[in-house]
Amino acid sequence: MTKSQLTRSLDPRYYTDPVVYESERSGLFRRTWQFAGHVSQVRAPGDYFTFSIAGENLFCIRDREGELRAYYNVCQHRAHELVKGEGHAKLLVCPYHAWTYELTGQLRSGPNVAKVKGFDRSEICLTSVRVEEFCGFIFANLDEHAAPMDEWYPGVHEELSAFVPHWSSLQTVDWVEIPESCNWKVSVENYSECYHCSLNHPTFSTGVVKPETYDIQPQGYCLRHTTECQNLDAMSYPIDLNANPHAGSYSSWFLWPMFSFQVYPGNVLNTYHWRPMSHDSVTVWRGWYQAEGGCTDIIRDLALQDRRTTVEEDIHLVESVQRGLNSAGYRTGPLVVDPDGGVNSEHSIKVLQSWMREAADG
Ligand code: FES
Ligand SMILES: [Fe+2]
Repeated sequence: MTKSQLTRSLDPRYYTDPVVYESERSGLFRRTWQFAGHVSQVRAPGDYFTFSIAGENLFCIRDREGELRAYYNVCQHRAHELVKGEGHAKLLVCPYHAWTYELTGQLRSGPNVAKVKGFDRSEICLTSVRVEEFCGFIFANLDEHAAPMDEWYPGVHEELSAFVPHWSSLQTVDWVEIPESCNWKVSVENYSECYHCSLNHPTFSTGVVKPETYDIQPQGYCLRHTTECQNLDAMSYPIDLNANPHAGSYSSWFLWPMFSFQVYPGNVLNTYHWRPMSHDSVTVWRGWYQAEGGCTDIIRDLALQDRRTTVEEDIHLVESVQRGLNSAGYRTGPLVVDPDGGVNSEHSIKVLQSWMREAADG
C-alpha cells in the first residue's frame, strides 16, 4: 500500500476549533435524531418533561388522545417559557400573562384577547418538533423533513427488541453523569473501537466480554457492536444463559451522532447519551434500565462496576487525546484498518470519521 492509500485520522481542528463546533451545532445537531427521554416519564395524558437539543429549549407531552408530542418551549405571545422540569398539565398555561394552550399546541384562550380586533386564536399554535418512540425511548429531530429512524438505523428496532423483549415495561434504575474535558467526537470515537480495550479495560475484557470475538460493523447510520460474553466462571456478575437466546451476547447499537443502546450479557440494557457542552467538553449520561418489578441489585452493582472501571479508564484516555490534539507536535496518524475487521481494527473509526467530515464540511 502506498502512503496516499492510507486512511488518515481527522485533522485536529475538527476537535479543537470552536468554528467547527458551531457549524455542527447549527447543522448536524439540528437535522439528526436526538435522545429526548423515556416513555416512563410520560405514561399518562398530560405528563411532560423538558429537554434540549442544540441549545433549543423543548418539551415532550402526551396529549389527551395518548399521542406523544414535542414543542419548542416558548409561548407564542411574548416568548416566555411555558414549562419547567417535568410534571403534569391538563392545559398549558403560560406563567407570564396566562395565555392557555391545548395539549395539541392550539391556543385556547388569553385574558382580554377577544377585545383585539382581528385576533384569530385558531392561527396561533405552539411550534411542534418531530418526535419518535423507539423501543420506549423518545427521540426528537429539529428537521421536520428528516427521514424516520428506521431509515437512518435499519434493522435496529427489531434487533434491540430481540435483545430486550421486556422493553415496554422498562424503568430507570440508575443515571450516571460523566463530564469529560474533550470534544464530543473524541469520546464517541473512543466508544466506537475496541482496539484499546485489552490494554485499558481489564475488567471489561476479562470479566464481561471476550475481546477476540468483538467486531463493529456499520448498519445505515448505526455502528453495531457484537461480541460474546466471557466464560461464565470469569464473568464479574451472574448471568442466566437460559433466560433468553441472547443472554450470552453483548451488543450495542451506536446511533449517529450521539446515542447508544448497549446490552450487556444477561440482557442488561444501558444507554450512552453524549451531550456536548462546548468545543472541548462533553457530558456523557449513562442510563441503566430494568423491567418493572425486576431485581435491581445486580444492575446497580454493574452500573457501579462500570463507573469505577470502563468509564473511569475512558475518561483518562479521551482527556489525554484532547490535550494531544492541541499539541503542535501531532501529525495525523494512519488508522489501523484490517480488511478482515475484528477487535484490533479501526474500520469503524474510518466510517465514523467519514460521517464527521460530511457533517462538518457539508
Ligand atoms: S408571554 Fe406567554 S402569555 Fe405572554
Ligand atoms: Fe474504552
